[in-house]
Amino acid sequence: MMTSQSLKTAAMTLLSVLTFSSALAATNLKEQHASWTLQAKSADPAFSPSADRGKNFYGRIFRAGTDMASCSTCHTANPKALGKHVITGKEIPALSATANSERFTDAKKSEKWFKRNCNDVIGRECSAAEKSDLTAWLMQH
Ligand code: HEC
Repeated sequence: MMTSQSLKTAAMTLLSVLTFSSALAATNLKEQHASWTLQAKSADPAFSPSADRGKNFYGRIFRAGTDMASCSTCHTANPKALGKHVITGKEIPALSATANSERFTDAKKSEKWFKRNCNDVIGRECSAAEKSDLTAWLMQH
């Protein structure tokens, strides 16, 4: 039988393994924003992130008449609100990192969804400048 001491030791070991492995890939909104800004600046040295442009981008109707006309179609006008997939009806946790602590903590995940959603909504991938602008706005929300 496990004593409470050995249980405690096992739990502590597990916790440190989890903390260590998540620390390896961990990132956050600020870091990802900085990385997209850097990429955008290398393409255009005059680039400077704009939360206003990010806000407009998020609400902009790119393909009127299609199911996925804008980012806000699924993520709603308020990034702090619970979203809803326009086709499947499935709930989408809030896009805002303030409202949802899991947001932008995994760079691979963020890139994967940017790629998919930008293709669905705009018909092409988003540029680093667009990602930088959008995350500048999201940092305020
Ligand atoms: C058809 C519905 C839909 C539309 C339209 C949509 N998204 Fe999403 N988005 C999703 C789903 C589903 C996920 C993944 C599930 C989740 O992470 O909650 C997601 C996740 C994301 C993530 C991942 C964030 C992270 O790191 O956790 C980003 C970034 C994102 N979307 C940006 C956008 C942008 C930018 C647009 C507009 C160009 C957009 N989305 C339009 C459904 C949509």
